[in-house]
Amino acid sequence: MKRQPADTSELHFGYFFPSGKTNFLYSDEAARTRPEMNKRNLLALAQTAEAVGFDSLFIADNWSGHQRAAEAAGHQAPAYHAPLLSMALFAATEHIGVISTFHTTHHKPAHVARMGATLDAFSDGRWGWNVVTGFSAAEAALFGEEFIEHDERYRMAGEFVSVVTSLWSEHEPIEFEGEYYKAMGRIKLPRPAQQPRPLLVSAGASPAGTAFASQYCDQLVAMANTPELLSQTGARLGEFAEQAGRSVDLCPFSMAIVREGDGEAEEVFEGLLTTLNVDATAEIAADVLGSIESSRAMYEKMGPDEATRAFGGAGSMLKFIGTPEKVAAELISLKSTTGAANLLVNFPLWSPEELKSFSPVLDILREEGIWSPPSDRDYSW
Ligand SMILES: Cc1cc2nc3c(=O)[nH]c(=O)nc-3n(C[C@H](O)[C@H](O)[C@H](O)COP(=O)(O)O)c2cc1C
Repeated sequence: MKRQPADTSELHFGYFFPSGKTNFLYSDEAARTRPEMNKRNLLALAQTAEAVGFDSLFIADNWSGHQRAAEAAGHQAPAYHAPLLSMALFAATEHIGVISTFHTTHHKPAHVARMGATLDAFSDGRWGWNVVTGFSAAEAALFGEEFIEHDERYRMAGEFVSVVTSLWSEHEPIEFEGEYYKAMGRIKLPRPAQQPRPLLVSAGASPAGTAFASQYCDQLVAMANTPELLSQTGARLGEFAEQAGRSVDLCPFSMAIVREGDGEAEEVFEGLLTTLNVDATAEIAADVLGSIESSRAMYEKMGPDEATRAFGGAGSMLKFIGTPEKVAAELISLKSTTGAANLLVNFPLWSPEELKSFSPVLDILREEGIWSPPSDRDYSW
């Protein structure tokens, strides 16, 4: 069974599994040249991630298909429904963890309790839940609901998670009547394999989001485009977690392009930026920069056009672009300056070969003593 939590003296890696031909770097060239998102290709990708040395796969998910320009070009589309895709990935892998995104808003706790217990029991304790509250009015409308205010969504999520975890852990029927949710009784077996519960992750670093993570989650996936900004988020997380008497791992979000030759990876990245799909990016930015506080803060000093272009070029995250030696040196520095525990990596040019290009980076980190293969330590979060 999966051990948790991870040894935070090391840096571990999560793979941001494709949830669309592209995500976070909206280059038409990247979308056009990606493999088909079919069973064969996605399973091969998961198996390669496991072989290369990633500890986990992270599957993002949204419900609404209102971003039509993006969809037409393959940006953030097609996206398989995360819990269903997770089940398939568990069947095709042996050890790697799979974190599936599922919304609290729009659903009932018993749905997630059953879903998560099934995924975790079936996989022998390899499942994690990325708890999201949703950030678009179109998504709320799809469920026939009003778009709930930002901080209230997190308050609802706190209550939701409390009910889910009680349904997982309590043997006897629960009687819960809160401000937002009501649940009486107990769920059928199975219960989750991981004890005391499956891994809980969240990815909102606003003050309300950080407060939520510090109270309920094990990892906070943080958007930050510089180590300095990441350290600020880490400091706030540390403060909030200490108040809650807990510890929560800081997991920066990043993208990587690794090439052996000097300047090659940089050239590939610059080339992708020349085919940025501005209409698609504007559509996605309208949602993301409209209602994600921590992302909006990174573009405050820019005008709308500049912000859209910067956002569409993976502007919200740490970028590791270069030779294995350069990327490894940057990761060693990141670890020592921010204390990051787990790096979530998006490969804009995803393919099994692209994942394998990360192996030489891991080899250097191993020599430096900040990474060990998951198979040596029984995989960990
Ligand atoms: C790496 C990453 C992945 C995310 N994946 C999803 C997702 O799949 N679905 C979703 O609704 N929100 C997703 N989010 C958004 C967060 O859940 C959250 O709504 C957002 O970051 C809110 O941040 P805030 O607390 O700063 O407002 C993701 C955020 C990050 C950083």
